[in-house]
Order: sequence, then structure tokens, then C-alpha cells
Amino acid sequence: MEFYGHIIDGQEVPSLDGATMDDIDPYTREPWATIALGGKIDADRAVQAARRAFDEGPWPRMGYEKRQALMHRLADLMEEHAQELAMADTRDMGKPITQALHDVARSVWNVRFFADHARMSMTDAYPMDSGHHAYSRWEPAGVVAAISPWNFPLMLGTWKVMPALAWGNTVVWKPAEDTPVSATIVGRLAIEAGFPPGVLNVVHGYGPDSAGAALTENPDVDRITFTGESGTGKVISGVAARNLTPVSLELGGKGANLVFDDADIDNAVHWAVEAIFRNAGQVCLAGSRLYVQRGIYDEFVKRYKEAAEALVMGDPKDPATQFSAALASEEHYNKVSGYLGTEALGGGRVLTGGLGEGWSVRPTILLDVPQDARVVKEEIFGPVTVATVFDTEEEAIAMANDTRYGLNAMVFTENLSRAHRVAARLKAGTVWVNCFFIRDLRAPFGGVGDSGVGREGGNFSREFFTEPKAVVMQIEQ
Ligand code: NAI
Ligand code: MG
Repeated sequence: MEFYGHIIDGQEVPSLDGATMDDIDPYTREPWATIALGGKIDADRAVQAARRAFDEGPWPRMGYEKRQALMHRLADLMEEHAQELAMADTRDMGKPITQALHDVARSVWNVRFFADHARMSMTDAYPMDSGHHAYSRWEPAGVVAAISPWNFPLMLGTWKVMPALAWGNTVVWKPAEDTPVSATIVGRLAIEAGFPPGVLNVVHGYGPDSAGAALTENPDVDRITFTGESGTGKVISGVAARNLTPVSLELGGKGANLVFDDADIDNAVHWAVEAIFRNAGQVCLAGSRLYVQRGIYDEFVKRYKEAAEALVMGDPKDPATQFSAALASEEHYNKVSGYLGTEALGGGRVLTGGLGEGWSVRPTILLDVPQDARVVKEEIFGPVTVATVFDTEEEAIAMANDTRYGLNAMVFTENLSRAHRVAARLKAGTVWVNCFFIRDLRAPFGGVGDSGVGREGGNFSREFFTEPKAVVMQIEQ
């Protein structure tokens, strides 16, 4: 089995105490790689390397153009290694290889977009009546700790790491313990691309009492960007507050998908399937609550069921597989399958789906579920959707907003006024109308309520990863 180490100070290294962990492929349920298992001492070493690289190294000082060129070189190498990167995520968490390849393309775009965005970014100038002139500067914040989850290992990692780098910060990236490999590969490629030592560090390990917690406690860390569970976000926020370290938290969701009578049904069914069955519903943005207006409800549910049952389920390494016969880990399988028990359903019934072979859950649609059932209230993070009928727009909005989350929502309607009206009233960081998953990396991304704190993307990432400075100059005596 290949060994994947930490990337610290421009070198791939084992843990100081030599500890390792097995990396399990959830489809074969066998180890497929050996990973350096880091702890506080390794995380601290990575922060020291990043600190030195920021305080003394060339990265924050070389200017946008040189950084942009290095980042594009990294993006080129990631494209050359697309198959290796995609297979790493597929073996680490069971994602179908076609979707993993799509994630690689999006990850490459994360690198190129933020490299270009920083280079092209302008600053504000404020001519003052007093004869002064004020302007803002976007100065890098320092050392950034990026802690990422297992559901889009490469894509969500690069979404955090790349804007931080583009703005001149140095980074310590801790990928999720279940999905460590693609991060080490990116670290290797950054060395090959010619990144100065200490600019992009990768440290592996667990969260609590391990590498993750050590990063959040370290006073030499200037920013913490985290994507993961809402509960973890609350813990990290509390720890970070002790050092007054700013945090950006992208947390869980319970996306509502509203389909009105006047919707284009083919389009709405297509996206309702994507919204909960892509990546087996292990998506913070999943459309896990489906609300369909009464006039088309029966027809919609019939077609939705057919489309769910038509998904080709199988080995995630097989390019023909549309739906993986493995959730990300045994622990996660146990969590998701627990939601199919009587207590969580609260009297609802399974229209299609249920447990599959191994650690898999089939595309599952639940009907007749009361709105206070756990499957409606809690994030399942699996291929399980609850379909509910509604009559009026008011009723649909009220049910959609009855959640402690607020990451995203979808609206399907051909009525222009309704589209804008409902989009404005939904409690969500992103609303998609007649589509889903489409992202413009300049737009704000983040959530309301338990779905997070702060926004990333374009200028929003810039605000988080820099210390804006005002310079006021006298122009006229
Ligand atoms: P998790 O919260 O268990 O772990 C995420 C990362 O945090 C891992 O790298 C883990 O090692 C680390 N971690 C855990 N406890 C920590 C601690 N006390 N201190 C520092 N680091 C710690 O989340 P998981 O299970 O990996 O991912 C699934 C969750 O992520 C879901 O709840 C999902 O909704 C959420 N998510 C949110 C997204 C968003 O953008 N809003 C996107 C993707 C996932
Ligand atoms: Mg977890």
C-alpha cells in the first residue's frame, strides 16, 4: 500500500512519532493506503513552517502576478494528474469516478479562478472633501488553517486553500481523516510546481484531541476556515474565540426544494434526482426536503420514483456507475441507516429505496412524513428525501423555512413573479430557480442559522483572507 505523508515545509514527512492510520475504501471495506497520523506536535510543526514562510518567505511579498503563475502551474499539474486525484477521492469515500473527475475539474477551476481573481482585483479609493484621499489595501491575514470534510475532499479543500494562497497567505490544510489522499497529492504537486517551502502544508489526523483541534488552538493561526458538521463548527468557534481568531464556517444543511404546479416537470424531476442522489446525498446542499404542489404531486412522485430506481448503482470505480454502492464510511453508513428506522420516520413510509449491500443505502424516497419527524428536522447526509404535498405558496414557504438550517433552497416554477417573490422570502444563503448546483465563484457562498457564519467566494473570500487596511493621504495643503 502506498504511504501518504504530511506535507510540511516543502517536504513529505511521516509523523514525528511514526504513527500511521489505515485508509479504508468503503466499497471494498479494505484498507487501500497508509496515512501519516498526525497529532498536536505535527500540527504545531506545520503551523511553525507556515508562520516562517509568511513572516520571512517570499510568498506574501512576491506580488500577485508571480503567485498567479505558480498557481496556474499547480492547476496544470492537477489536470495532468486528474485520474490519480479522482481515483483518490473515489477510493477514499466511494464517490462514483465520473463525479470525482467532475470534482477535479471544479477544483482546478478553484485554483485558476482565485489566482486570477486576486490578480485582477481592484481596491477602493475615497476622494475626501477635506483635501485628503483614502484608499484600501488588501493585505494577507497570515497563517490560515483550512479544515475540510470528507464529502468533496479535493473540491472543498481547494475552495478554501486556493483563495487563501492567492491573497498571499500561507496555509495548513487538514483534510478529513477519512479522505486524506488527494490533499497529499496536491501538496506534492505544489512542491513540483515550485511553491516555496511552508506555503502549502498538509497535516493529517483526527479532529478532537488531535491535529484538527491543535490547529484551532494555535495562537499563530490568523484565520480558520472550516467546512463540516454544525456541531463541530460550534466547538471550533468557541476555541477560536479564545485567541480572537476569525472563523469562516460552512456547515450543514437541510435544503428545501419547492416544485409548483406550473413548473417544467421534466426539469424539476431531473434536478430533484441530482439534488439528493448525486454523491449519494452526502452533500451539504442536498435537496433533502421536497415540497410539491398538489396539482402535480401524484404525477411528480411517480416520475421521481422511476428516475430514482433507474440510477445505475454499483462499484464507484466503474465509469458506468451513477450511484455508488457505498456510503463514505462504516460510521456514516450506521448514521444514515439509523434514519430509516421507525422512530426517525415518525409514521412516514418508504416509497422506494432502503438498505443496500455492504455500506450502502439505495436512493430512498419517503412519503407521508409529519413535519416534526427527525428525518425532516435533522441532516441525514445520505440519499434520503422526504416528499411532502402543499397547496399554497404561503404554506410552502412556511414549511421550507421551518428549519434551524439555511444553506440553500430551490424553486421550480415558470411564473417569473413567483420565482423572485419566493426566492426573496426563503431562509437560505443560496436560492436556485429552475436549476441546482450551478455556481459562479464570484457569488457569495455560505449559510444562515446553523448552516454557518460568513461567506466565501470572490470578494467575500478576499474579505475573509485579508486584513483590509485604510491609507489616508493628504493631497492638498
Ligand atoms: P466533521 O465536522 O466531522 O469534520 C470535518 C472536519 O473537521 C474534519 O477534517 C475533522 O477531522 C475536523 N474536525 C472534527 N472535529 C474537530 C475539532 N474539534 N477541531 C478541529 N477540527 C475538527 O464533518 P464531516 O463528518 O467530515 O462532514 C460532513 C458534514 O459537513 C456534514 O454535516 C455536512 O453538512 C457538512 N458540510 C457542509 C458544507 C458546507 O459548505 N456548508 C459542505 C460539505 C459538508
Ligand atoms: Mg464526521
